[in-house]
Amino acid sequence: MNYVFLLESAKSLLQDSPNNLSLLSNASAFIKDNFDNLNWVGFYLFDGTKLTLGPFQGKVACEIIHPGRGVCGTAYVTKETQVIPDVHAIDNHIACDAASMSETVIPIMNHGEVWGVFDLDAPITNRFDEEFVDFLQKYVEILTKYIDFNKSLI
Ligand code: SME
Repeated sequence: MNYVFLLESAKSLLQDSPNNLSLLSNASAFIKDNFDNLNWVGFYLFDGTKLTLGPFQGKVACEIIHPGRGVCGTAYVTKETQVIPDVHAIDNHIACDAASMSETVIPIMNHGEVWGVFDLDAPITNRFDEEFVDFLQKYVEILTKYIDFNKSLI
C-alpha cells in the first residue's frame, strides 16, 4: 500500500469540502474504498455529553456511546488512539457489527478537547499494524485541518 500517495490524494479530496458533513462523509468513504478488510469506517461526534453517530460506511451502528464505554468511549476519555487486535479479548467493547474482530479508534482533537472519534472495524484480527495506524493518524491530522470547528454537525 502506497501510504504517501494516499495521503497526498486525501489532501486533494478533503481540502475542497464545502462543509463538515460532506468532509466526514467522503473521509470515511475514502478509507473504506482504498483498503480491504474493513467492515466499518466512520465517525462518532461529541455532543457535549456523549458520542453520537456521524457519517460512516458500513452496517447500521449504535447511535449513542457514553464516555468510557466501549473502544470509542475509551478513546474519548483517554484522548489517545486505541488499537485493539482482538475485540473479543477485551471486556469494554461494544459489538455493533458481529463481524468485527479488530478495531482502531483515533480521537479528533480541537484545542485539547475531543471533538469526535474516527472508528475503524475489521473482520479479521490484527488488522491494524503499526504502519497502518501511523497512516491513519496522519490521515486524521490532515482531516482535522479541514474541519470547521466553529460549526457543528449535531
Ligand atoms: N465497537 C465500538 C462501537 C462502535 S462500532 O464499532 C461502529 C466500541 O466499542 O466503541
